[in-house]
Amino acid sequence: MPETLLSQGKLHFERQGAGPPLLLIHGFPFDHRMWQSQLAELRTSFDVIAPDLRGFGDSPLHSGEFSEEPSLLNYAHELIELLDALHIKEQITLCGLSMGGYIAWDFCEVALHRLERLIICSSKASADPKEVVENRHQVAERVMEIGPHFLIEGMLPKVLGKTSLQSRPSVKELTEAMIMKSSPLGIATAQRAMAARVDREDFLPQIAIPTLLVSGEEDPLTPPELMKKMTGKLPNSELKTISSAGHLAPMECPGEFNQIVKAFLQ
Ligand code: MLT
Repeated sequence: MPETLLSQGKLHFERQGAGPPLLLIHGFPFDHRMWQSQLAELRTSFDVIAPDLRGFGDSPLHSGEFSEEPSLLNYAHELIELLDALHIKEQITLCGLSMGGYIAWDFCEVALHRLERLIICSSKASADPKEVVENRHQVAERVMEIGPHFLIEGMLPKVLGKTSLQSRPSVKELTEAMIMKSSPLGIATAQRAMAARVDREDFLPQIAIPTLLVSGEEDPLTPPELMKKMTGKLPNSELKTISSAGHLAPMECPGEFNQIVKAFLQ
């Protein structure tokens, strides 16, 4: 797996295929492996790049400014740095899932001109209510004390749809493995950054590039009804739903997800 040295240290990423660049941003607390089916299939037509965000997978996070002043903008800036390091000058398609979607809004704010298209999967533009913010801070403290294993029990029924929980054991296994691989400081920093994020609802009308929204019908966190509301604000957007997928639709129903993405990008 290649790595590149950026201002915050080494960043690992997977890169496969050739064609127009497609940058995939994973959700919390996962890594590039959540996109393994997209890397395998979309590489026939695209230059697919899937980094491990700082503090996740194989991208180390050391204490310092990045963790002491947590902001989703830090991750967005690192992605821009990554594109520069890879000498990608043409406009890209950015695809973010959940936390990756929140980071995508920040990317749009600072570098919309670098995007040709946007794909937002299982995500939203609103900020968190107070109790969610408080919970994020508690999780951040707890993970620093005891590590990431406690997240598995609470998260699996939320991030995997009921079909996956019942009949896709390999998806469940990979989800657990990614949670366990995330560093405690990476998890704590991302939680604090998500807690601090601002509401992006009023920013959406400024994103006029073609935008695809994807939602799993078994997703309790960002269900289709919630994502549908964003199509009213994003001027050039459409929503596609996947019936037997939850929050992690690209992993749960990769065939359907890839078809939707390919149709949008053609
Ligand atoms: C994710 O999948 O990235 C998380 O559900 C995001 C969140 O905690 O809001």
